[in-house]
Amino acid sequence: MTRTSDLVALDEWYAVAFTAEIPKGSSETTTLLGQNLTIHRGWDGAFQCVLSEGASETPPLLKERYGFVWVSLGRPSHDIVAIPEFEQSGRRFIHRGRIGVPSSGQRVIENFFDLSHFSFVHTGTLGGYDSAEVPKYSVEYRENDRELWAVGCSFVQPKASAAAGGASTIYYDYRIPSPFISIIYKDSLVKVGKKDLIGLFVQPHDEESCTVHSFALVHDEQNSPTHILHFYHEIFAQDRSILLHQRPKKLPVHPRREIPTISDASSIAYRRWLDRSGLQFGLDRTSN
Ligand SMILES: [Fe+2]
Repeated sequence: MTRTSDLVALDEWYAVAFTAEIPKGSSETTTLLGQNLTIHRGWDGAFQCVLSEGASETPPLLKERYGFVWVSLGRPSHDIVAIPEFEQSGRRFIHRGRIGVPSSGQRVIENFFDLSHFSFVHTGTLGGYDSAEVPKYSVEYRENDRELWAVGCSFVQPKASAAAGGASTIYYDYRIPSPFISIIYKDSLVKVGKKDLIGLFVQPHDEESCTVHSFALVHDEQNSPTHILHFYHEIFAQDRSILLHQRPKKLPVHPRREIPTISDASSIAYRRWLDRSGLQFGLDRTSN
């Protein structure tokens, strides 16, 4: 495995571990952008990242945030994505674990905010056959093009969350603040006017494999964490089975390879946004 030289990819921040899963005085090896790493946790609880090869090099940048260990192998000009809801009270934090996917990180992100698959992949929970149509929504580029949003999304969902009692129309927005991060802000079924967050922090091991670290910040005092986790794992297992079969594993971004349907507006926007970002890693830039 060789480390990528793609500066756009190197200058991002990536979640590589969940802090509570690394006991003091232990270490964990992993891979990021083709580079083998070791995450050490000292007896004082502090984390350190060391390159497994090239020990003489300056160690990668490391920060702890939102319960995760974040690493950048480059010189990022921006901080880790700001998610102010982590500082707010009222929601429960659910660590949804980490799941390996043998595909590019961008395939995972694109699938996460693809509305058109709900009825066929998540039948009975996030969608149903009798309401498969995707209502119109819009895409916006924000923060000087650093963030992509799909806003005003809605969908009739038979069981939108572990707390859902029955079918309802759910309203939500998707935020993609990095090529490898997506957060959904979804209507709470428990607290009217409040949003639940579900987020994916993708750690690309190489161009065609990744680990998805994910969390939920939800208004749900009724269900046990295990019950909530089971709901999410069922959903993700369905997504994973789709991702396993997508070819090419890298995400095509050439305009000639777009899928021209209305419901895929978010996918087209994501691919165009990635294309002009200059990112190479994990993308298939061929025209056919
Ligand atoms: Fe899905």
